[in-house]
Amino acid sequence: REGSLPFGVDSSVHTIDRRAFIDNSVLDIEFDRVFHPSWQFLGFAGEVREPGDYVVRMLGRDEVVVIRGEDGEVRALHNSCTHRGTRLCRASLGNTAHLRCSYHGWTFANDGRLVGVPALRSGYPPDFDHAGHGLSAARVTSRRGFLFATWDPHAPDLEEYLGEIAWYLDALLDCGGGEWEVCGPPQRVRAQGNWKIPTDNFAGDGYHMRTTHQIALDQGIYGDTLANGTRGRAGTDLTAVNIATPAGHSVRAGYVIDSGSSLEDRDPAAPQFPGYPPERWAELAAAQTPEQVRFTSHCEVAHGVVFPNTVFLSVAHDRAVGEESDPLTRYLVVRSHVPVSARETECLYWTLVPTAMDPQWRRRSYRFQARTQSAGGILFEMDDFENFARIDDALARSAPGRGGPVDLTLGAGLGTPARDFPGPARAEVATLSEHNQRAFYRRWAALVGELP
Ligand code: FES
Ligand code: FE
Repeated sequence: REGSLPFGVDSSVHTIDRRAFIDNSVLDIEFDRVFHPSWQFLGFAGEVREPGDYVVRMLGRDEVVVIRGEDGEVRALHNSCTHRGTRLCRASLGNTAHLRCSYHGWTFANDGRLVGVPALRSGYPPDFDHAGHGLSAARVTSRRGFLFATWDPHAPDLEEYLGEIAWYLDALLDCGGGEWEVCGPPQRVRAQGNWKIPTDNFAGDGYHMRTTHQIALDQGIYGDTLANGTRGRAGTDLTAVNIATPAGHSVRAGYVIDSGSSLEDRDPAAPQFPGYPPERWAELAAAQTPEQVRFTSHCEVAHGVVFPNTVFLSVAHDRAVGEESDPLTRYLVVRSHVPVSARETECLYWTLVPTAMDPQWRRRSYRFQARTQSAGGILFEMDDFENFARIDDALARSAPGRGGPVDLTLGAGLGTPARDFPGPARAEVATLSEHNQRAFYRRWAALVGELP
């Protein structure tokens, strides 16, 4: 496919044309060619626990009501009346047996069937087709409580779509003991900038920690080690392993190497799980396969992308801000970067806590996530979104072609294959690398194809 990728993406994906981040005609193409054939994350089964529970989310360019029917099945129903197209559900969450249109009153059951038409007998022919006027429903699959959906009837099933990345998601979930609870509805924030900008950041950007997040690091939340110039913890002086798959999914896992010089020096018989209390380590190890233990033990931070627009981040901390007497915690946050326009993104943040941990630990986990990686947080999000907005400013204001393409060469050709790595897919050791970002854009460019 030499020379056939659009937007200035060369075959090794070292550059991207700036138009890819600011042009609404590109977003239209992305909706059709990137989002439509993909499985997109909608939220958690725990958000719609009871029959009639619903949340309203975006699936590509369409709004859907994610609703549990009386039969217990979760569906993603197009949020648009089949009479004139009126938006049916205006609340963002709730519980209802029926969705009734505000215009002429057509009423749909919570499984999408049209069940009520005002003046049906007097106003419509006797053979009016109720069944043909039900709400469109996307394919929905729940995987460990994560709800994914696609509009594409030809998409492979979710497991095949996730491929090797599923092993890494399972490892992170099993590392907490297996069962996780979602902490309430997600936060939702509109942010300036294209959806790919925060997404590529999560794919593998350890490069920005020292500059963007220096003030946050100076707060001492990763310990005092940074202040005196010695080794830091998560996201700083780590040895990182980058795993990226041809499907565009990725994980970057960071380890502090404190004795030897490689991951192989770890003692597999005595795994440590950063952020979790040492007295629970043996039990946490037992909840995982030996291969997962080799991946998760000693892993301080792991983040990545489920292509196209869902990201995750798991971080261990040695103390929670303001809670220095009770030091250990770890959080897992899942986010969705939903395009509003080419230059605006709605970010949804869900926090997960493992049910196996005691209530104090769970509370610290939630609070630490809320204080750092959330819309109301005081540290990382403000730092990052300031940069993302300034990227958007400059890209949108520049004359076409000015400034050259966006660069993705960091670490190209410099990573070394991780020896004897326990997880699937190629794993590359490179603490600073845009290896995962290149995989993300390579998949994106292959789907977008040539411009018309
Ligand atoms: Fe919904 Fe008429 S548009 S009932
Ligand atoms: Fe950041």
